[in-house]
Amino acid sequence: MVRIEKIRRACQAAAEVLAEGGRALRPGITTDAIDAIVHEACLARGGYPSTLNYHGYPKSLCTSVNEVILHGIPDSRPLQDGDIVNLDVTIYLDGMHGDCSATFAVGEVDAVSHQLMRVTRECMELGISAVKPGRPISEIGKAIERRAAAHGYGVVRAFCGHGIGEDFHMEPQVLHYYEPRARERMEEGMVFTIEPMLTMGQPDHVLWPDGWTASTADGQRAAQYEHTILVTRDGAEILTLAPELVAKPREVAHT
Ligand code: MF3
Ligand code: CO
Ligand code: CO
Repeated sequence: MVRIEKIRRACQAAAEVLAEGGRALRPGITTDAIDAIVHEACLARGGYPSTLNYHGYPKSLCTSVNEVILHGIPDSRPLQDGDIVNLDVTIYLDGMHGDCSATFAVGEVDAVSHQLMRVTRECMELGISAVKPGRPISEIGKAIERRAAAHGYGVVRAFCGHGIGEDFHMEPQVLHYYEPRARERMEEGMVFTIEPMLTMGQPDHVLWPDGWTASTADGQRAAQYEHTILVTRDGAEILTLAPELVAKPREVAHT
């Protein structure tokens, strides 16, 4: 099988596993329970959760709740009605990694958090729309930052998207803010993630003593969405689309 076909399969599997984890979310369930579901779902597809033992990371999934920006470690805390939680799934399948994440509402979530989630998803989509061979990679962050700023949200600068394939984290770096010095040009065939993190308040983070969990310094909520994409001849193909979206193209807005 050619390389890109293998990446496509790993990414498809990641999207399926993420959807499975998301469907299990409800108030009262622990993030450890979601971790177990994701772990089994990776194995069931003949894959392995890329995060498990990655530089010592202890779990098969990242679960980032409320003010946690990313790399939250699943634990025994039951999710509460009103929480928002990002599930970040990466699978290693047949020699390739696929990586995606989404932020989910647990039970009844306030309108302010829903808006943060919606705009963060839009920022990811705008970043994807900026992908085109020949353009500088800085166009991605420019598109993301513009929309986030229009809503007064912060864009986390300390963590970025990344090339992915044979390795979990490869070149290029994909910044989610505008950095004019990021002049590398996108090329057809490149595979990388776009995974913006937006914050209600300031985008500065603190690292927890566990060495992984990054939460907002001001304690306000954060959201993140992530897709792995392939640069095509005239744009981007999203490789980690959820299965139901692959089967049924997204509905056109009602008129
Ligand atoms: N999936 C994360 C990313 O999007 C990386 C998680 S690495 C871990 O790049 F070790 F924290 F799990
Ligand atoms: Co990820
Ligand atoms: Co990633």
